[in-house]
Amino acid sequence: MTETAQQFWEDFYHDRDQLWTGKPNPLLVREVGSMTPGTALDLGSGEGGDAIWLAERGWQVTAADVSATALRRAAARAADAGLAARIDWQQHDLSQTFPTGTFTLVSAQYLHSPVAPAGERETILRQAARAVAPGGVLLIAGHAGWPSGHHEVHPEVHFPTTAEVVGSLGLEPGHWRVELDELITHDWTGPDGQPGSRTDNLLRIRHQAMSTDTAKSAADR
Ligand SMILES: C[S@@+](CC[C@H](N)C(=O)[O-])C[C@H]1O[C@@H](n2cnc3c(N)ncnc32)[C@H](O)[C@@H]1O
Repeated sequence: MTETAQQFWEDFYHDRDQLWTGKPNPLLVREVGSMTPGTALDLGSGEGGDAIWLAERGWQVTAADVSATALRRAAARAADAGLAARIDWQQHDLSQTFPTGTFTLVSAQYLHSPVAPAGERETILRQAARAVAPGGVLLIAGHAGWPSGHHEVHPEVHFPTTAEVVGSLGLEPGHWRVELDELITHDWTGPDGQPGSRTDNLLRIRHQAMSTDTAKSAADR
């Protein structure tokens, strides 16, 4: 039987006291640090490092993950920090159900899953794009490949390029601008402490707000 995202990720979190560092992702911090706080949707929010960082900066956050354990841990940390009212934690298998509403920031940080069937991440990211309010930003960070020194071979795993991601989003021409399309190589420490590197990719895509005149002429066309 195929393992579902919920089974896989719930076991993954449940088997460990803490999976991630609790810190926000550096690329999110770099990109969002200077943005005016608004509403944010964090997809695959894990143990809440990004959502809590956003809430601390004044964002009103909806954070979604498939794992109840991860969400519980994240919510407890947020409550300890006095941020309970700023974050709405929602359990979703995002390939099945999706948070409602539109947001000034929609963030998908390393939304990778070894049990996702082909095309599932693309389906989720297409919905992510639809959830960006006019003027808002879709921020997608992903791994571009395995870390250095990773010798296991997984021919079934494909890390999409940014061109593939943009191509799969179904963006309406003229309404979106790819503001940033970047490859970032950073230090990475292996499971036995060995030094190495890993390359990630980042997309910042803006849903362009149209002036009333432009919107009217688009509607008239
Ligand atoms: C690689 S982790 C990244 C977590 C966090 N964004 C970070 O950067 O630390 C992927 C996260 O996505 C969640 N996830 C994977 N597939 C999902 C799905 N179909 N629906 C909702 N969440 C999912 C997992 O539970 C996990 O927390």
